[in-house]
Amino acid sequence: MSFPEDFNWGTATASYQIEGAFADGGRTPSIWDTFSKTPGKVVNADNGDVACDHYHRYPEDIQIMKDLGVQSYRFSLAWPRIIPGGTGAAGKHGIDFYDRLIDALLEAGIQPTATLYHWDLPQSLQDKGGWANRDIVGQFADYATLAAESFGDRVANWITINEPWCVTWLGNFWGVHAPGLKDLDTSIAVAHHTALAHAEATRALRAVRPEIRSGITLNMTNYRVSDESNPELLQLRDYWDSNINRWWLDSQLHGTYPENLVEFYGDKLAKVVKPGDMDLVKIDSEFLGINYYSDSFLNTPTEEQVQKNEGTFVFPINSDGTSPAPHTDMGWPITPKGLEDLLVRVHKDWPEFIDIAITENGVAYPDGPDENGVVTDDRRVDYLLSHLKSVDAAIEQGVPVKSYYYWSLLDNFEWAEGYAKRFGIVYVNFETLQRTPKLSASVYSKVIASNGAVLETVKNK
Ligand code: FCB
Repeated sequence: MSFPEDFNWGTATASYQIEGAFADGGRTPSIWDTFSKTPGKVVNADNGDVACDHYHRYPEDIQIMKDLGVQSYRFSLAWPRIIPGGTGAAGKHGIDFYDRLIDALLEAGIQPTATLYHWDLPQSLQDKGGWANRDIVGQFADYATLAAESFGDRVANWITINEPWCVTWLGNFWGVHAPGLKDLDTSIAVAHHTALAHAEATRALRAVRPEIRSGITLNMTNYRVSDESNPELLQLRDYWDSNINRWWLDSQLHGTYPENLVEFYGDKLAKVVKPGDMDLVKIDSEFLGINYYSDSFLNTPTEEQVQKNEGTFVFPINSDGTSPAPHTDMGWPITPKGLEDLLVRVHKDWPEFIDIAITENGVAYPDGPDENGVVTDDRRVDYLLSHLKSVDAAIEQGVPVKSYYYWSLLDNFEWAEGYAKRFGIVYVNFETLQRTPKLSASVYSKVIASNGAVLETVKNK
C-alpha cells in the first residue's frame, strides 16, 4: 500500500457532540443548547446536556484510543467553556479541562489536533447576530489567540472552522442546524465572515506561535449529474460546486470568490464585502482538512423546485433515481470511489496544498450489542476499508494525503438527528454511558498497526 511511513491515523469528535456537562465549570449556553431545547428541532427532543459525558469520562476514552493504537485525536474546544462570556475573560475551568485532556492524550502517546469552532457558538454572541455580525471576525481571532496561548505549547495542529458551509447554509438558510435561521442575506454574510475569520484566526494563531500548523476543514463532495448533455443541469452543478467546494478554497488561496456566485449573489454579497477584504481573506495554510461522506447527485430540477427556491437557486437532490449506490442510515449514498476522485481533483485544482488531512470520514449504522455484548458492524467495516482503499489509490496518484481521522470515535449527539444515528467505532449506551468498541474498532486498530498493509487482503470494491 502507498501510505507513507509517517501517515497519521486518528479518530475525531466534537465538543457539543460528546462532552455533556453543559453547565459545569461556568460553561454558558451555546446556540446548540438553545436550538436542541427548541421543540421540534432535534429528533426525539434530544440535546447535549449529558451526551457521552466525555467531560468526566475522558480518561476512559483516551484509554480506549490507546488500546486501539490511535495515533492522533481530533477534538474541538468549546468556545462557551474557554470564554464563557463569548468575549473577554477566560474561563478558568474550561481551560483546566482542556489542559487535563491534552496532557492525558500526550501521556498516552496520542497527538492532539484541536478544532477551534465545531458549531457551539456562545449564545450571547448569536444574540448579537452571530456569524452574520462582522464583529465575529475579531472575536474569533481573540478566541484563537487565547487558545494558542493556553494550549499552543502542546497542540501542534489546529483547525480553525469545521465545515463553514454547514454553518452558513444548514444553520442560516435551511434552518435545520443552529441557530435555525432561514435567510439568504444572513447566509451570504456568514459565508463571507467565516472565510475572513479563518484567515484572521490563522494570523492570530501564528502571532502567538509561529510554529503552529493550521488549516480549515471543509465538507467536500463530487456532484454527479443524471444527464451530462443538459446545459441547465451542468450550470446547476457549477453553482453547487462553487457553493460547497470552491468558496472557502478560492478565497483563501486566491483572494476571490467563484464568479458564478459573485454574480448570483450580486448586491447581497457586495453589501458585506468591505474594501480590502479580499486581500485579508487570502491566507496560506499548512494543510487542508477535508470531510468526505458521499457524492451528491443532481437531477434536472422540476418546475416546482425552481419555484420554491424563488426561481433562482435550486438545491441538490440526493435522488435514488440517479444514485446507484446503497444508502447509509443517514440516507446518504455509499460512494467510496468518490473519495479518490475528490482527492485527485483537489490536488489538481488546488495544488498549493501539500498536506491534505481527511479530517472526517465515516458512516452511521444502528448496530448494537448482541446477546454476548458484541457489536458486529460489518457494514461500517466495509465502508471504512473501501474508503481507505480509495485514499490509498489517491496517494498512489501523487495526492499528498498525510492523515486520516475516522468520524467518530464514539456514538454521539448527531446534531438534528440526536442520538438516533450512530457513527462511532465505539458503541455508547446512552442510558448507562457504557462504552463498547465495535468490530470496526478492532479492524481499524489492525489497519493502524500495519500502516494500511492489511488493506491488501481486502477485495476491491
Ligand atoms: C459532519 C460534522 C460532524 C458529524 C458528521 C456526521 O458534517 O462535522 O460533526 O456530525 O458530519
